[in-house]
This record gives sequence, C-alpha cells and structure tokens, in this order.
Amino acid sequence: MSYQNEIKKRRTFAIISHPDAGKTTLTEKLLLFGGAIQTAGAVKSNKIKKTATSDFMEIEKQRGISVATSVMTFEYRDLLINILDTPGHKDFAEDTYRTLTAVDSVILVIDCVKGVEEQTERLMEVCRMRKTPVIIFINKLDREGQSPFDLLDELENKLQIRVRPLTWPINMGANFKGVYSLYDKSLYFFQVNKTKIEADVVEIGLDDEKLPSLLGERDAGTLREEVELIEGVYDPFSEEAYDAGELAPVFFGSAINNFGVKELLDTFCEISPTPQARPTDVRPVEPTEDKLSGFIFKIHANLDPRHRDRIAFFRVCSGKFERRKFYHHVRLNKDIRFASPFTFMASDKSILEEGFPGDVVGLYDTGNFKIGDTLTEGEDLMFSGIPNFSPEIFKELVNLDPMKSKQLDKGVQQLTDEGVAQLFTLELGNRRIVGTVGELQFDVIQHRLEHEYGAKCRWVPMNIDRACWITSDDKKKLDEFIRMKGNQIAYDKDNKPVFLAESEWMIRMNRENNPEIKFHFTSEFK
Ligand code: G4P
Repeated sequence: MSYQNEIKKRRTFAIISHPDAGKTTLTEKLLLFGGAIQTAGAVKSNKIKKTATSDFMEIEKQRGISVATSVMTFEYRDLLINILDTPGHKDFAEDTYRTLTAVDSVILVIDCVKGVEEQTERLMEVCRMRKTPVIIFINKLDREGQSPFDLLDELENKLQIRVRPLTWPINMGANFKGVYSLYDKSLYFFQVNKTKIEADVVEIGLDDEKLPSLLGERDAGTLREEVELIEGVYDPFSEEAYDAGELAPVFFGSAINNFGVKELLDTFCEISPTPQARPTDVRPVEPTEDKLSGFIFKIHANLDPRHRDRIAFFRVCSGKFERRKFYHHVRLNKDIRFASPFTFMASDKSILEEGFPGDVVGLYDTGNFKIGDTLTEGEDLMFSGIPNFSPEIFKELVNLDPMKSKQLDKGVQQLTDEGVAQLFTLELGNRRIVGTVGELQFDVIQHRLEHEYGAKCRWVPMNIDRACWITSDDKKKLDEFIRMKGNQIAYDKDNKPVFLAESEWMIRMNRENNPEIKFHFTSEFK
C-alpha cells in the first residue's frame, strides 16, 4: 500500500467522558464491531474506584491494566482505527489532557441522566483549545434521562460548542423505542439485547403514512413535531464546521445494549479526520512529509520494580517509523534506535516493523524520555501544544532519610518526567514543591518512591492555589519581580520561573501592580 494510502486509512481518536458515563462500555462495543474482541467484558475498566486511602496494590494493578489497554487498534471498513484510552479518574486528568494532544478527534460520552458533568467541561476546554473535532454520544437512553432538548441546550451552554443532532430518540427509559436517523431517514428499533449487534432498521420518511403503525399515533406525532423543531432550530450538519472543532454532531443510544453504536461508528468512519498536521516550534509538520517525526505523549513505568525501564508512547506525526533505524532525539541531541518497538492490538503487544502517521508506537525507555520529547530524522524541531497546566494541589516534599537523598532525587526526577506530577523548585533552600491535580498522586508518588527507589518522604501541605508561569518582554523587570517575590517564585522542570499564588486575588493584584509581567496558566506560551 502506498504511503499516502497508509495515512488516509488511519483514524486516531480518544473517547472521553466523566467517570461512569459509559466510556469503557462504548470502547468495548466499538472493538466488538471491529472484530478486535469476541466477547463483551474483555476490556477492563481502568477506573480507580477508591479514593486516596485505597490500597496501593489496586493502583498498581490498575496501572498495569491501563498499559495493556492504553491504545486499542482495530480495522473496520478498510480503516485502521486507533483508540487512545484516557483515565476517567479526575486525579489523572493531566494524563488525559496529554493524550488529547496525540489524537485527531474525540468521541465524547454523556450520561443522559446526569447531563454535562464537571470533568467533561474541563476535557472539552482542552479540545476547544486545540480545535479538536468532537462527536457526542448521549448514552443510557434506556434510562429515564433529561429531555433531549434540554440536553442539547446544556451541551451548547456548558461546553461552548454548537451541536447538531444526527439521530433523535423516541422516548426514553422504559418507553424508549429507538432513534430516528436524520441523515439516512430511517428508524432504528431499540431492543434490550446485549449480544445482538445490529438493530432492526426501517427506512421511512417522516411523512410516510405507515409511521403511526410502526410507532403508535402519539409517538409518531411527537417525532414529527420534534424533528421539525430541530430542523428549524439547528443549522444543517457541516463537515467543515465539525473539522474546525466548531460543531459537534450528536447521537443518542445505549452502549450497553449495543444500541446506536454502529451508526456512531459508521458516521465516525465517514467524517472523522485522517492524521492531521501538527505545530512545532519551527513550522507545522504535515503527515505526508517523507521524513519521520513524532513526539512522546505518555510514559508508563514498568510494573516490575526489578526493571527500571519504562514504556514511552510515541505518536508518529510524519514519515515512516522503522524498527532499528536511528532517530534524532532533539532535546538530548543524540541519535537512538529501538530494537523492539511495539504496537498495541487490544491487550496484546506485538513487535512493530514500521509505523505511519497516526500510529502510536510503544518504546522501551531507560530514562531518555520526558513527555513532549521529539524524534526526527535530524531536523531540530520540537512539537508544541503539549503544555503543562497549573496543578491544583501543592505539597512540599520532605526527605525522611538523608542517606537516601540520591535515590529520592532520581525517583522524583523520573516520576515527574513521566508526568505523574509537576515539580517546582524554590530557589531558597532548594525546597521541592510537588503539584498535582488530585490527592491520589501524592499517595502514588510516596508509594513508588519507597518501593521503586528505596526512598522515604513525607508531604507538607502548602497554601498555594495556582502556579503561573511568568514572562516579560523586559528582562530587567522580570528579574526584579523574581527578586521581590522571593519565596513565591519557583522553577519548573525546564527551569522556567513560576509564581506560586495563594489565591486568585493574589494573582489579580500582582497583575495590576506589575503590568509588564505576563502571567500564564499553562507552561506553553507565545
Ligand atoms: P466509564 O468507563 O465511563 O466510567 O463507564 P462504564 O462503561 O464503566 O459504565 C458505567 C456504568 O454504566 C456501568 O455499570 C455500565 O454497565 C453502565 N452503562 C453503560 N452503558 C449503559 C447504558 O447504555 N445503559 C445503562 N443503563 N447502563 C449503562 P456499573 O454497574 O458501574 O458496572 P457493571 O458492573 O455493570 O460493569
């Protein structure tokens, strides 16, 4: 197959949702349709159900599972589809943000009973920032949920994206009869059936006089009215607006009952983008360029503590990735090659000989990689758009065993390279502040430092609300600000200065008093 066709064939996307909306169930159903798995239940949820006090074995186990199901590849209708899994747990949201940098589109799952939930809003912010095309699947129609019109309004208001239903439900909960597809003018009948893959379909126009005999007089009438309303209120679906991340087509269904999933997948195959160009600090890189380039978006520790090697997830952005060929590691300015890169086919890992744009390649790593690292065939460029966001919880790391400070340093360095947490160093006394989005990471770090590096630590909570990266066109002013703020200034892993603010108010006040200083809430800025 020609190189161009290899690219055209690929679709790389993530399913995102608030925990419990049905992401795992939908993933599994998509894999069933794709023939990648034969039975339901084969995909394990990577959900972490317990909170901070959970026993660590569970976390370890979950981490193991999420490696196996981090990327799921299957073929469907001549396409090669890569689903990148994202942790649903809020405390691991940063991991999800980074995974979103490696996809070309997203399917967002919403629970029709709960509507748009907090986690969904935050994930969508990241999609909006990157203009990622989004398809929305409203799940659990077999339950009595909110009215579909209210759900659409909520989606538009809370997610700030225009929506366009492509299917429309006929009732909900116990009376749920199915959906009417507005694009292929067909009725899809709902059946509670966990094994049957395809729904019964009747192609029928809404004006057809047979409609009442199929749905009953009342439901047929309601459907006609509601569809008329939709066609009047919502603009027609535009693929262009979808591609630009401005308009999200909406589907209704019930993943657990296999309902609505096939229509979702078929539409996804038709409209979802092929591997896209990606920005770098030098120029955009097109997937069709013949030289390899790509970046690391996720690093996973090995589960076996006797082996320190890790797995780095590399997204191919252009060119062809080949086993045993030397590539240029831009940050380290050295050439490296990989003896056993691998692909992810459901839960199996297999050696990969060549990979194309859109593919995710697993690379064994002995500590060479940080998130965001770029490999090329010699060109000095770094992919951008993989920022760090301000953490939400900050604690000081205190070494409990001075004899083991080397191990602690190494451990902290490696764990933060993996992106488990962000490390900020205060100039004064070299104190280390660790920032995360959830309490759980502190337990994970403490546990891993002890078990993988033999170092003991404790945490001291800090009164910090946000980290803001600071810059200025006037270097003198920046230096002066840094001097003035002393203890509130720390340095991130790339040695960029960061202002650790106690409150929003503090940021506002400092902004007003120091107009020449710019405060940024992500580590990447122009
Ligand atoms: P997540 O990955 O987004 O966290 O959600 P997951 O798929 O694990 O689904 C969360 C719960 O919702 C599961 O129930 C699942 O069976 C259920 N679910 C998924 N799709 C539907 C649907 O279309 N209708 C209904 N009624 N329920 C659905 P659970 O009790 O938490 O887990 P389980 O024991 O059933 O696996």
